[in-house]
Amino acid sequence: MIDSSPFIKALKKEPLEIPPIWYMRQAGRYMPEYRAVRSKFKNFLDMCKNPDVCCELAMQPIDKFRLDASILFSDILTIPDAFGLGVEFIEGKGPVFKNPIRSQSDIESLPEFNPSDLDYVYKAVSNIRSVLPSHIPLIGFCGSPWTLAAYSIEGGSSKDFSFTKKFIAENSQMSDVFLEKLTNACFIYLKNQVISGANVLQIFDSWANLLSEKDYYEYSLKHINKLIGMIKNDPITSAIPVILFAREPKCELVKLADSSADCLSLFWSSNNVDLVKLKSKVSIQGNLNPAFLLESRDIIKKETYKILDKYNNYPGYIFNLGHGITPNIDPENIKYLTDLVRSY
Ligand code: CP3
Repeated sequence: MIDSSPFIKALKKEPLEIPPIWYMRQAGRYMPEYRAVRSKFKNFLDMCKNPDVCCELAMQPIDKFRLDASILFSDILTIPDAFGLGVEFIEGKGPVFKNPIRSQSDIESLPEFNPSDLDYVYKAVSNIRSVLPSHIPLIGFCGSPWTLAAYSIEGGSSKDFSFTKKFIAENSQMSDVFLEKLTNACFIYLKNQVISGANVLQIFDSWANLLSEKDYYEYSLKHINKLIGMIKNDPITSAIPVILFAREPKCELVKLADSSADCLSLFWSSNNVDLVKLKSKVSIQGNLNPAFLLESRDIIKKETYKILDKYNNYPGYIFNLGHGITPNIDPENIKYLTDLVRSY
């Protein structure tokens, strides 16, 4: 049933008449239904720790827009939280870590990752899978080791992550140890999501843009390669398609395609994509700039058609945004966009 869904077919690079559609951050603050549930929780992570609520939130955009894929409702920062770094989300500030990584000894003294600390996530996966129509695939996800390390070292969000950059330059070897720990944790975490019912996995390298090309290979892509290698070599996860999202990496996209990811999720500024080089390797997902959804319908249409014209003949193309839906977007525009793509 799942294997014949358009989304899975696209991930296997099969050409389709109409691209499957889903949106990064399809569940979130732009939806009044989400805000109504969110208002019952002070801390965002407390909400993520409630599998029934996660299930309800994941289903909201599916029920409203009849999308072709569902994504687990959770966050990438569950893993640093499980390592004891004390993640909190503060209104207007984003994530804040109570115990960030400040020294080599903070890395040495990290507790062993205990996968069962994230049982609430696996339970959310199985709850969502049990109510989702059987033909709609469920995407499980994690942050890339590098992106998780950047938040953990910086202690939260930042414009330029200057503390993190200085830390890795001065503690290169120990940073590698930390990235290894995160890589192993990501693998066990994703494997448990698959055991619980996830049909596809996406890795978010949201801070790929912070690193020079050389450092990108060393601190990020090396570990992503290892993570996808583990997924592809484990009998439980080997058949699960993997999508890789990297925000403006400084290397050529074909280097990401060589990670053995099945699909690349393109950031909105990735315009000069060498489709010929990518064609035999990966399917493509993306990449309308979400900011266009704040513009008039004419502009939304023009910009969407530009993307559809470009990827129309690419085998296994999946329509998505080039980053997440922002809270200021009108849900009616998501409906408009979805209809637009389906009637193209
Ligand atoms: O439909 C979905 O995609 C929901 C599941 C989801 C969330 N976060 C929920 C969320 C997913 C897949 C994520 C991934 C995530 N989280 C990423 C990678 C994607 C990207 O945007 O690059 C990153 C970097 C994070 C870390 C994170 N989570 C930040 C920096 C913030 C605060 C900034 C913000 O947007 O407010 C979050 C909070 C968060 N994660 C919210 C949601 C719905 C909003 C929290 C709230 O309601 O207060």
